[in-house]
Amino acid sequence: MGKNILITGGAGFIGSHLIKLFVQKYPNYQIYNLDALTYAGNLESLKDIESADNYHFIHGDITDLDFIGQCFKKHAISDVIHLAAESHVDRSISDPLIFIKTNVLGTASLLQAARDNWGSQPGHLFYHVSTDEVYGSLGEKGFFYEDTAYDPRSPYSASKASSDHFVRAFHHTYGLPVVLSNCSNNYGPHQFPEKLIPLFINNILEKKSLPVYGKGVNVRDWLYVVDHARAIDNIFHKGSVGETYNIGGHNEWRNIDLIKLLCKLMDQKLGRSPGTSEKLITYVKDRAGHDMRYAIDASKIKKELGWEPSLQFEEGLSLTIDWYLENKDWLENVTSGSYRDYYEKMYEGKLT
Ligand code: NAD
Ligand code: DAU
Repeated sequence: MGKNILITGGAGFIGSHLIKLFVQKYPNYQIYNLDALTYAGNLESLKDIESADNYHFIHGDITDLDFIGQCFKKHAISDVIHLAAESHVDRSISDPLIFIKTNVLGTASLLQAARDNWGSQPGHLFYHVSTDEVYGSLGEKGFFYEDTAYDPRSPYSASKASSDHFVRAFHHTYGLPVVLSNCSNNYGPHQFPEKLIPLFINNILEKKSLPVYGKGVNVRDWLYVVDHARAIDNIFHKGSVGETYNIGGHNEWRNIDLIKLLCKLMDQKLGRSPGTSEKLITYVKDRAGHDMRYAIDASKIKKELGWEPSLQFEEGLSLTIDWYLENKDWLENVTSGSYRDYYEKMYEGKLT
């Protein structure tokens, strides 16, 4: 059956992978990519599919309710997959208000437009793509489950938790058909080099310091971005309305161990002698309120929808490094200008 799907944030990291998957796999769907093209949005990431007949780009802001309402009407939007967000924890610490505006008000505006157009009619779906950070921070043991109590601790995770609550509130109060997923850390091609893996790849290339927060012992559960896009596809088509699904990689790494593996692979691929990149590691002041450990229990999505990660971490990391090495222009384009100023300011000349 044909659908007119509004995917928000499709010029960003995960959104661009999702759009490519949907445009290619579902020629009977019209895919509308709504993106404000902030520093994190880049249409170059979509050049493989930009001329496809079923792909359409809409430049706009999810906080502009009138504009969103017009989009729904003009394109007879049947479904929403909502990814647009401010997504970087460090930026949320230095500038929290834009996170509240985009992530909370933006999500609420999309919900309102969906409610205005669909009411509680079945046959529509509002899918909110969210994060495991809403669950807070784990100690050495345990996992996040779908019914783990929310305990967000950064302005970013508080804004995502709030947006999740609004999605559920619109379902319970107005009967809006919704589904949610909460995913662990993604990595892969096209990720903006402010997040750990692409930032460190870029710094190693430029022989710049690798700023490890605190002692480097915080743990994250890493998932290849294409596997996340596959999970979203599964949930969108087979998930139950009103449900939440956790998505994770069963792949926990202490930051410092991951960074050392990355250094080793980079040395091999760049033909540098072993140990060269590790010398760039510099321990810096810890992130304020730094969550210690995230780990997802993804058994619900496996049992109910048959989804599992497909890629081993070393393979995914190697593919990711290769992509950045082959796309230095992309890296150069996105790191020039205001981003470079932001990064320099963050460390005020404390790094080489
Ligand atoms: P990203 O920062 O790479 O991309 C965000 C996109 O949203 C950009 O294209 C940006 O231009 C767009 N955008 C920002 N503000 C907007 C606005 N007001 N109106 C319209 N578009 C706007 O983010 P990402 O890493 O791809 O994350 C996508 C979603 O997935 C986010 O909701 C994030 O919370 C969630 N998520 C991310 C991860 C991860 O590891 N990256 C993990 C779990 C969940
Ligand atoms: O868990 C899902 C979340 O993962 C997503 O919701 C977020 O959008 C995404 O940005 C990511 O958040 P993190 O804060 O975990 O990712 P980040 O890449 O910023 O940091 C990963 C770990 O590495 C974290 O413990 C902080 C540390 N770090 C990060 C940077 C950028 C460093 O030690 N040095 C750095 O320079």
